[in-house]
Amino acid sequence: MGQISLQAVCRTYTTGTTKQKVLDKVDLQISDGNFSVVCGPSGSGKSTLLNIIGTLDAPDDGSVMIEGVDVSTLTENKLAQFRNKNIGFIFQNFHLLPVLTAAENVAWPLYFKGVKRRERMRIAKEKLGLVGLANHVNKLPKHLSGGERQRVAIARALVCEPSIILADEPTANLDRKTARKILDVMKKLNEHHQVTFLCATHDNLVVEYAKQLITLADGKLTTEATTKAEAKGAS
Ligand SMILES: Nc1ncnc2c1ncn2[C@@H]1O[C@H](COP(=O)(O)OP(=O)(O)O)[C@@H](O)[C@H]1O
Ligand SMILES: [Mg+2]
Repeated sequence: MGQISLQAVCRTYTTGTTKQKVLDKVDLQISDGNFSVVCGPSGSGKSTLLNIIGTLDAPDDGSVMIEGVDVSTLTENKLAQFRNKNIGFIFQNFHLLPVLTAAENVAWPLYFKGVKRRERMRIAKEKLGLVGLANHVNKLPKHLSGGERQRVAIARALVCEPSIILADEPTANLDRKTARKILDVMKKLNEHHQVTFLCATHDNLVVEYAKQLITLADGKLTTEATTKAEAKGAS
């Protein structure tokens, strides 16, 4: 079994009298240490899939196992704890709090774990160092470039040491050169810190980094291992 395992997952949205089947009996295995990329056109269900894997949304049918846990068995409280411990999130619009500095934004999730302020700030600065922002810890988001903001968001996603990071269109608002830098940071974290990545994207640059490529169309999903995964297996 993979670290992420979906079986016959279905998700239908109902708007008024219209029903739209976005995920139709989807099966998926994502193993430890993978760099998986979900691609597909806008509206194909990429965010829906990520939200379900991130336990922010539940399927209508089918099972979702994360780290061997059937997440449907967890109460709301346990689920929030489970998510905080195991899963980090990165979004297209960075989702940083404008009134907090880079370090305070990164430290924020640790507050919910009861970590004291001094220790929170120490860990936050360490994570900002990992993404190359050691010199920007006291800056507000408005004083950072787009690429720097996304690196703050990556540091925040890392702060609780999750085994999985879900990234929804992480490069959509970045120029190409900056997008590549962000992907290189994610690649480094994947290779040297054993973080599993799952990115949803319609950016071909992200596809270049995939070890496992997942394509969504018409509610169905196909997966293929890329040459990157083979190269890693062979080394
Ligand atoms: N909460 C919702 N209620 C109704 N329809 C939704 C909702 N979320 C997404 N959809 C619809 O489901 C489809 C897939 O959406 P989404 O998962 O966001 O796709 P993608 O991320 O690939 O662009 C779209 O047609 C979208 O309009
Ligand atoms: Mg989306």
